[in-house]
Amino acid sequence: MLSPAQAYAAVEPIAYPPWQDSQVAVSVLRLDQFFPQLSGNKYFKLKHNLAYAQAQGYSRVLSFGGAYSNHIHALAYAAKECGMEALGVVRGEESAANNPTLTDAQTWGMALQFVSRSDYKRRVDEDYLQGLRQQYPDAWIIPEGGSNALGVQGCVEIAEHIQQGLGDGYDTVMLPCGTGATLAGVVLGLPPSKQVLGVAVLKGEGYLEAEVQAHLAAAATTPHGQWQLLHDYHCGGYAKCDRALAQFIEGFPLALEPVYSGKLFFALDAMIRSGDIAPGSRMVAIHTGGMQGLRGMQPLMEKYL
Ligand SMILES: Cc1ncc(COP(=O)(O)O)c(C=O)c1O
Repeated sequence: MLSPAQAYAAVEPIAYPPWQDSQVAVSVLRLDQFFPQLSGNKYFKLKHNLAYAQAQGYSRVLSFGGAYSNHIHALAYAAKECGMEALGVVRGEESAANNPTLTDAQTWGMALQFVSRSDYKRRVDEDYLQGLRQQYPDAWIIPEGGSNALGVQGCVEIAEHIQQGLGDGYDTVMLPCGTGATLAGVVLGLPPSKQVLGVAVLKGEGYLEAEVQAHLAAAATTPHGQWQLLHDYHCGGYAKCDRALAQFIEGFPLALEPVYSGKLFFALDAMIRSGDIAPGSRMVAIHTGGMQGLRGMQPLMEKYL
């Protein structure tokens, strides 16, 4: 069982001087602080996956990620907490095994298998997955990012944390999107009157919309509200960072990293300044965590500071 120390994540108003005259109210849902070892959205994506794996009698979880993956990091900790074995299939060279993310994962008992970029691309192919199921019949295989139906189901709960903190006192929720599973869960959990804006952190126009639609279609019998993806704030692509983003993060009052939360607040800032977010709006930004990943991005950021 994964047991957070508190019932609900904090929702805090944020005071950022450049937004002071905008008449836009911004609150932050601090999922980054909610379950620090399973930072941000990871607790929500993994809780039902681990419970399902245990209920089905699997003794191991297996999943995929890059060398600084938040998901791999969190899965290793979650498996340890649940007394399960864990195998991480990692994109890249074995030399990455000593980096801080993978060192943590191994300290928590995860075994690692390094695969080439071309093999890693096969992680969604049915014949490849079938091979893994035969090789590891004791393993519940979770897709990259924890983005399956059980992951979406867990993210539905994020909406309760917003309601708990703000009641009905907000109009629009904003969050970063990699696979779109977290956004789908939030959309399903919120009342249909609320709007959800997802900041795409990668170049995924069209593709990401289809992913979100598929998650919603698989899960939903419930009516849900409006959602939209914003594609102008990926700063060059996944895990890319430019000077403007690095400098924004450096000057922002909350701790951010450039892969997810940095792009979220960077987008929010640009939209408040441009007036795309109208005066009088009441925004909630979800800090989806992932600060452990900053350890891999620091050299790139420092190049610009
Ligand atoms: C810290 C962080 N924020 C946001 C996301 C994006 O979530 P999703 O892939 O569900 O869109 C991820 C990836 O799972 C993440 O690690």
